[in-house]
Amino acid sequence: MDTYGKVTGPDAPREGVQVDTADRPATAAGQGATTKFELGRGLDVGTANLASAIQDAEGNVTIKLQRNAFIDIEMDDYTRNMLTRLNVQYVVLDNRMIVVGDAAFELANIFNRETRRPMKAGVVSPGEKDALPIERMLLENLLGKPQKEGEVCYFSVPAEPIDSDFNVIYHQGVFEGILKKLGYHAKFLVEGHAVVFSELAEDDFTGIGISCGGGMFNVCVAYKSIPALSFSTSRGGDWIDRNVANVLGIKASRATAIKERGVNLLSPRNREEEAIEIYYRNLIQYALENIKSRFESADGMPSFPTAVDIVCAGGTSMIGGFVEVFQDVFEDIKFPIQVKNIRRAEDPLYSVAKGCLVAALSET
Ligand SMILES: Nc1ncnc2c1ncn2[C@@H]1O[C@H](COP(=O)(O)OP(=O)(O)OP(=O)(O)O)[C@@H](O)[C@H]1O
Ligand SMILES: [Mg+2]
Repeated sequence: MDTYGKVTGPDAPREGVQVDTADRPATAAGQGATTKFELGRGLDVGTANLASAIQDAEGNVTIKLQRNAFIDIEMDDYTRNMLTRLNVQYVVLDNRMIVVGDAAFELANIFNRETRRPMKAGVVSPGEKDALPIERMLLENLLGKPQKEGEVCYFSVPAEPIDSDFNVIYHQGVFEGILKKLGYHAKFLVEGHAVVFSELAEDDFTGIGISCGGGMFNVCVAYKSIPALSFSTSRGGDWIDRNVANVLGIKASRATAIKERGVNLLSPRNREEEAIEIYYRNLIQYALENIKSRFESADGMPSFPTAVDIVCAGGTSMIGGFVEVFQDVFEDIKFPIQVKNIRRAEDPLYSVAKGCLVAALSET
């Protein structure tokens, strides 16, 4: 199942984004005009980022990534000219200019505003009335049309949360509908399971995959690729940003930018980074305690014959010192499963999209 090539690292440019495995230029749609791609797509539907994955005939994977965010701006000649000069694309909706994706995040930071977010805590945001047309627009840009009507697209959905009361039925239905309209045959894959597919091939797809995202942590315990237990906890990177923003009196989008700029949890350099470190430790503690108590109460947990790995994926695991702090907290918790190594996925931000792609390719 380990069929994909290696993608470039998380530091690859985000804008537009082609994270290309082969040294070939990709077109704006992320698909070189002459490159032949396998049928089957992977799509990570995340609170903070949307990522698509596709594989060419040589096994190289192309990932496209966009922030799952938008911003609306008053329509006037000055702003319109400025956006045109900056080469920022926009659409007009209800007489306002809407900028989506990475450009929206950058503009929010320039104007000291918040981005609007179509998703919250893993699912379509109940408080964002424009969520659905924006998601449609973002996915259309990211995926384009299928190569063939009915091409399979596996998309990620969160597992049921253990610390809040909602289900993912509506969310799942909405994305199935959008993908179907684009011409894909949409199938869902639980997010933690996608991490198992992309990161635990060498362990015979046995172990614990955790996707540490913007809205949630998604956990999957798998034995030989079969999920024994999947669940989520509903705090992630956004929770850190909100809290850091509160204590520092800044916008959450600004806190996100500071956090992503290259902080090391083991050596914070100023007041902002100290706040990030404090909330990060708390988040990891919260997630691990929830995971532990869920494991202890679980029926049907596999009793692994040998110790297994925990692999952390997702953008929230990318911060410097994440694995060290995770290990630190882990050592103080009496964990009910024997664990061999705690490690970070090679490309944390692309792990779920790659896992969804593995599922799609194994079917077509
Ligand atoms: N270099 C970095 N350092 C710290 N955090 C980062 C870094 N890069 C991204 N992040 C954070 O990772 C989070 C996004 O991760 P990811 O794309 O895996 O989440 P998501 O899949 O969109 O969300 P979810 O799975 O919870 O729905 C955001 O909170 C973002 O700020
Ligand atoms: Mg995610």
